[in-house]
Amino acid sequence: MQIIKSCSALNSINFQKPFAFVPTMGNLHEGHLSLVKFAKENYSEVITSIFVNPLQFGKNEDFASYPKTLDKDIQLLEDLDCNYLFLPEPNFAENLEVIKPNFSDVLCGLSRPTHFDGVLTIIDKFLRLIKPNACLFGLKDYQQQLIIKDYVNKKKLRTEIISLPIVRENSGLAMSSRNNYLSKDDREHCGIIYSCIQNAAESLKTSPVKIVIEKATDFLENAGFEIDYLEVIDANNLSLITKKTNKILIAVAVIYKKVRLIDNIIVSL
Ligand code: PAF
Repeated sequence: MQIIKSCSALNSINFQKPFAFVPTMGNLHEGHLSLVKFAKENYSEVITSIFVNPLQFGKNEDFASYPKTLDKDIQLLEDLDCNYLFLPEPNFAENLEVIKPNFSDVLCGLSRPTHFDGVLTIIDKFLRLIKPNACLFGLKDYQQQLIIKDYVNKKKLRTEIISLPIVRENSGLAMSSRNNYLSKDDREHCGIIYSCIQNAAESLKTSPVKIVIEKATDFLENAGFEIDYLEVIDANNLSLITKKTNKILIAVAVIYKKVRLIDNIIVSL
């Protein structure tokens, strides 16, 4: 695997097409690796990036303490035969014009008001620089991939945005670098976030949305979770469900022992 440490070095690479790009913030887990594996299987070459993007962290968030495991990450990517790893210089996120996305005033955007500006601003820079045929994201960050798809369509960028299924720990907890902040027992306990939204999806067949949300909220609060949001909305536009809705998103963000965890499930109608 070739490691690229500057934009100029990146510009001199002649990627074999079609090639895919997997942007990450490192501390790689099976969720990230599933994206790299998919990219390896379906594209001629794969470039992964590791960059902890300061623009997407709020003032009181964990930018400074975000887990960094570069040596291990490099080994994991080499094991998968990833072709290139891009490690941008620290000033990569400086002097960029902030891009304001659509769909960012709900769900995670409410408690993290500048988060998606930061994500989209850096992804725009990556896409214009690397110009990959495809860029891969996990569905755990449902809102993130929807925002990026919408932007890429609107700007007619020539990169296909591909979203792949959530990878889970044995307990059901969605894989996330932030799971590292929790003990093994806590991660086991947090598996019930997924059972809760699975039950909610089942209940939607027979109960009104309001009741489903109330029941799920009570369940999680009784299990020790603080709820940031628990929403049942239209998966295509993150708005209220209407008669036209053909895909429902059940999305949840909770805080457990100071750790913020998100998860979601899609119900096709
Ligand atoms: O999902 C992430 O890890 C980040 O938001 C991303 C897409 C790498 C942008 O910094």
